[in-house]
Amino acid sequence: MIMQSVTWLNGQLLPTDQATIPVNDHGLLYGDGVFEGIRFYKRRAFRLQRHLQRLALSARAIALEIPLSSAELTAVIERLIDAFADEDGYIRLIVTRGAGPLGLNPKSCAQPNVIAIADQLTMMAIDKQQAGARLIVSSVRRLPADGLDPRIKSLNYLNHILAKIEANHAGADEAILLNAQGRVAEGTADNIFIVRNGRLLTPPCSEGALEGITRDLVLDLAQSIGIETSEQPLGVYDLYAADECFLTGTGAELIAVASIDCRSLPGCPGPVFQRLQQAFRRTIDQECGGEK
Ligand SMILES: Cc1ncc(COP(=O)(O)O)c(C=O)c1O
Repeated sequence: MIMQSVTWLNGQLLPTDQATIPVNDHGLLYGDGVFEGIRFYKRRAFRLQRHLQRLALSARAIALEIPLSSAELTAVIERLIDAFADEDGYIRLIVTRGAGPLGLNPKSCAQPNVIAIADQLTMMAIDKQQAGARLIVSSVRRLPADGLDPRIKSLNYLNHILAKIEANHAGADEAILLNAQGRVAEGTADNIFIVRNGRLLTPPCSEGALEGITRDLVLDLAQSIGIETSEQPLGVYDLYAADECFLTGTGAELIAVASIDCRSLPGCPGPVFQRLQQAFRRTIDQECGGEK
């Protein structure tokens, strides 16, 4: 059966509104779990093995054993894509600690729940994307690595949600989180790049950013089309003084930024963004186009 929103839950394919897990799952009670967001184009998952690798490392970092091998997860994703109504879409792959008693001790959770949801995801309406995102720099800081390492893609996004609420209140589209030292880390669900004097700059992940798969790809693409890149710490001033700025992520893909804290940027969409956007689309066509 072909479904508009379809979920694979511990071995069963179901319409998403019929897929349920127990209310005492520690993913719900404590945010105890890990996840990935994966896009597919023309019914092919984009950079799936990279996502599965990051999921495996996130799970290992929180001492969570995923009950399926990477090959089994690949088969799950393929089955899910086949059951989905559209040829392009988004998958949320989640592994929770599973159901257990109310205390937070994960030892008492017998079996992780594995969930994969296929649906559509739009980070920003197309007309807003074309006009460029309006950002604020949030007062909410990214958690420090000695609290929760930003490389772990865990179910715990509360400070990102608080930053998003701040953006909503300010009438902005997205919020940038700084690290504890006041330097730029990333967006609520995306990495950030700026362009200055033709050079593409982004903070190193050690500044408090997720090791974004789209971020890596954009750095590679920039180098392959002759744009100089540098991973270097950035301050808020660097954002304000940028020639161009854009966000990257599986959900976001590439989104040009029009303003930061009401300071308009000169180029939106700027020339470097446009070249990278084209190269990004070409990569998707190369990896997900053609006969299956
Ligand atoms: C906090 C955060 N940063 C960055 C990203 C972008 O990462 P990727 O390009 O791998 O989707 C995400 C994506 O979910 C995210 O949640």
